[in-house]
Amino acid sequence: MKVLRDPVWWKSAVVYQIYPRSFADSDGDGIGDLAGIIGRLDYLATLGVDVIWLSPVYRSPQADNGYDISDYRDIDPLFGTLAEFDTLVAKVHEHGMKLVMDLVVNHTSDEHPWFVESRSSRDNPKRDWYIWRDAHEGAEPNNWGSFFTGSAWTWEQTTDQYYLHLFDSKQPDLNWDNPQVRKAVQDIMVWWLDRGVNGFRMDVINFISKTEGLPDTPPIPGQRFVIAFDGFADGPHVHDYLAEMTRNVFSGRDGDFMMVGEMPGVTTEQARLYTDQARGELDMVFQFEHVSVDQGPAGKFDYLGLDLAVLKRSLHRWQAALAETGWNSLYWNNHDQPRVVSRFGDDAPEYWAASAKALATVLHGMRGTPFVFQGEELGMTNYPFRTAQEHKDLEAVNFYKSVLEHGGDEGAALAGLAKVSRDNARTPMQWDAGPNAGFTTGDPWLPANPNSTWLNAAAQIESKDSVFAHYQALIRLRHESPILVDGDFTPLMAEDPQIWAYTRRTPGRKLLVIANCGCSPRTIEIGREWIGADLLLGNLPNTPATSTSPSLDLIAWDARIYSAER
Ligand code: NOJ
Repeated sequence: MKVLRDPVWWKSAVVYQIYPRSFADSDGDGIGDLAGIIGRLDYLATLGVDVIWLSPVYRSPQADNGYDISDYRDIDPLFGTLAEFDTLVAKVHEHGMKLVMDLVVNHTSDEHPWFVESRSSRDNPKRDWYIWRDAHEGAEPNNWGSFFTGSAWTWEQTTDQYYLHLFDSKQPDLNWDNPQVRKAVQDIMVWWLDRGVNGFRMDVINFISKTEGLPDTPPIPGQRFVIAFDGFADGPHVHDYLAEMTRNVFSGRDGDFMMVGEMPGVTTEQARLYTDQARGELDMVFQFEHVSVDQGPAGKFDYLGLDLAVLKRSLHRWQAALAETGWNSLYWNNHDQPRVVSRFGDDAPEYWAASAKALATVLHGMRGTPFVFQGEELGMTNYPFRTAQEHKDLEAVNFYKSVLEHGGDEGAALAGLAKVSRDNARTPMQWDAGPNAGFTTGDPWLPANPNSTWLNAAAQIESKDSVFAHYQALIRLRHESPILVDGDFTPLMAEDPQIWAYTRRTPGRKLLVIANCGCSPRTIEIGREWIGADLLLGNLPNTPATSTSPSLDLIAWDARIYSAER
């Protein structure tokens, strides 16, 4: 096993997220699987990552691609078997990496035996494991909306009550106020840890404690249902439940573990509490503020475009807020986000590679644990979606249906979907220039991006100038440079709409991270203190190895990291 410097090993680690359905298909059914992942571990070791976060592979009806679990103690046959999972864990460890499972326990599938029992009668012992309420004046108990469109409540004829689901109606929310539920979740965690996994990424875990009485959320004119963050995010008992969980699951357990809390809507103040090691809750948060900056008032498909100053402000605020206590993850992409090079970068041929590398540079230079989503290390782009029928994700499908039902603007909806639909992240991993990007010999569940003929791992892995090579270099830097882990963070030119620059400092060393996040050249005064600084990493050929002037000429998407003694 790799020995990492710091006892809090995950501070100098880099995580790689695998979305199994789209990573590598070993049996030709068009859906990625565990055997496919096992076959690609050498690739991940070459990239240099420390931890794999595996999106859900549990048994599931796949209404939300596995984020709807019907058996927490089995592998879905789509992906393989428990025996293959055990092989995967062993092989990941042999490769010097760790494996973190994705645990979805704010809700289960409606096909989970717990819910099947719960819905069967009002006096079933599992009734209280979920959140059931009477109708209010003949309608839903409150005005909470589902993240996947419409009400967060579904009516059950058999028992004359509604159940709560913050996501799809096939994803009923568990009632964490019931101690039996909390114990059942803890037992599941122990079961997987005993199989050798190194921790969990906990899905929407700041939603588990709902506000007493489930009151209406303030209405928004023109909207019947509203996403009620004030009713379920960072609720009254969430810290107690997480501390109890960590105590019961991890006390007396030896090994290297990492606990990541996925937390939409979390505030910096709350994040500090969740990740203060002294409180024994979680190790780091995965927050969403910076990937919401391009959203308009009508929600995620109301795409506004990027204002770089706003994006920087958000990430810089998080850097400052967690500087003394707490820990954040650093990411551009995951399975719910469009591809960053098409979103905040420029995927036109002349800027594609430079902008993918520049964005990686500014992200990986910050304080926190970097996460790389499969294909990001190749600069994979959004898919050229044109029609509604090409989108498979239920979030996109429901949104489009509701726009049509309400007589909305279909053209705007399609444009929003193309730009930010989650399916952009979910097209097959681009391994080579062959059919289906080398992902499957069968018919892939989502088509491969046509650009896989030139944008693929095989083409990049041998090239020293590739996006892949740049990610490799950034990951190496994270391992070798304690200043990236511990150094303080000071933004420079914070309000500049095109330049992203900051310093990291420890008592003996300083780094300057600077990038031109645009196409027009800029000359930037960096001051005499950087004369003689070494170029640790640049993203363009021919950048001199040392800086020789108090100003830098940065061409389009030029990104550099300089290092100097203090
Ligand atoms: C967050 C996950 O990342 C997303 O993919 C999923 O749809 C929701 N949680 C519901 O589990």
